[in-house]
Amino acid sequence: MATTRELDGDKLKEYAKLVFGALGGAMTSTMIYLGDRMGLFKALADDGPATSEELAARTGLDERWLREWLYQQGAAGVLEYDGDGRFELSPEGRAVLADERHPAFGAGFFSHLPQSLANAEQLPESFRTGLGLPYDALGPEGARGIERGVAPWFRALLVPLVLPLVEGLVDKLKRGVRVADIGCGSGVALIEMARAFPASEFHGYDISRHALWRAEENRSEAGIENVQFHDSRQDPLPADARFDFIMTFDCLHDMAQPAEVMAQIQRAIAPDGIWLIADIKAHATYEENVERNPMAPMMYGTSVLTCMSSALSEPGGLGLGTLGFHPQLARQMVEAAGFTRFEPLELRHPVNAFYVVRP
Ligand SMILES: C[S@@+](CC[C@H](N)C(=O)[O-])C[C@H]1O[C@@H](n2cnc3c(N)ncnc32)[C@H](O)[C@@H]1O
Repeated sequence: MATTRELDGDKLKEYAKLVFGALGGAMTSTMIYLGDRMGLFKALADDGPATSEELAARTGLDERWLREWLYQQGAAGVLEYDGDGRFELSPEGRAVLADERHPAFGAGFFSHLPQSLANAEQLPESFRTGLGLPYDALGPEGARGIERGVAPWFRALLVPLVLPLVEGLVDKLKRGVRVADIGCGSGVALIEMARAFPASEFHGYDISRHALWRAEENRSEAGIENVQFHDSRQDPLPADARFDFIMTFDCLHDMAQPAEVMAQIQRAIAPDGIWLIADIKAHATYEENVERNPMAPMMYGTSVLTCMSSALSEPGGLGLGTLGFHPQLARQMVEAAGFTRFEPLELRHPVNAFYVVRP
């Protein structure tokens, strides 16, 4: 039935502003992608505020193109305008856009924006058939983007802050145990741990060939021998209770069959083993997600473009999506897989919730 509400002129202006603000956000995101890709944020961070001529001299790029890029990033508030044609990256901008080692670094998340948007061309077909696209549809930049997005946090906090919060874990790792990371992506978490705990043996499992390729490259760059990566389609998780510690970081909601993977984890984990889950902080209802998560619009969009798409990339996929794995469901699924202990881990993280699960 068509709406019977009258069109209100003031609300129309506000609504158009909202819609074109969203288009503006897409343009700003694309410019951030370009700035990151061409090293412009790093050039501003390393050598200070610049005019377009100065930035051209620093980077060897064309002045006219840089001027328009600076104008856009200044207008959007990503850069600060100091007057006289000079633009500056604030200390906060440096942390988020230029310093790959800062835990707040986020420019990596823009790396796969062009490919994500290009995939939108194929999505009307997904809306028709119900079948989504796997992670590898994002190309090599998909795995690289996730890696650049999450690596600073893993590098700064996983070993010193997170692992000691899990009772009994660090002692096990120091002693020498077997560890599996399911949905390991580019292997950054595992490599950090392998470096810190040389007596332990680490195995990463994923189904993305781009991620596995990147993981192997990272392993060889790090010169680390106690890590192996496996394509879980050909080399699945062994069902012999051999793993003392299992991690699943930001991947259960992306999996087509998470219940099946949880059942595999149950068969692979030792009777006194520990399973650490990190997944997107979500609430049980749409209403709560929208009310309590200011990033909900971005996350539902990411879900359609990536997470839910991946979780529906096989027929019969569960399709949880970015905000689909909330604590109540997590507990229910983990218990259904045969685990008896499920405890949230108190840890302040902007995006993730953590749970410690034991057989
Ligand atoms: C968002 S990424 C997270 C990667 C990594 N854990 C991290 O935190 O950076 C999700 C990963 O889950 C992987 N994945 C999806 N379904 C999977 C499955 N059934 N088994 C193993 N990995 C899977 C994807 O290929 C992708 O690399």
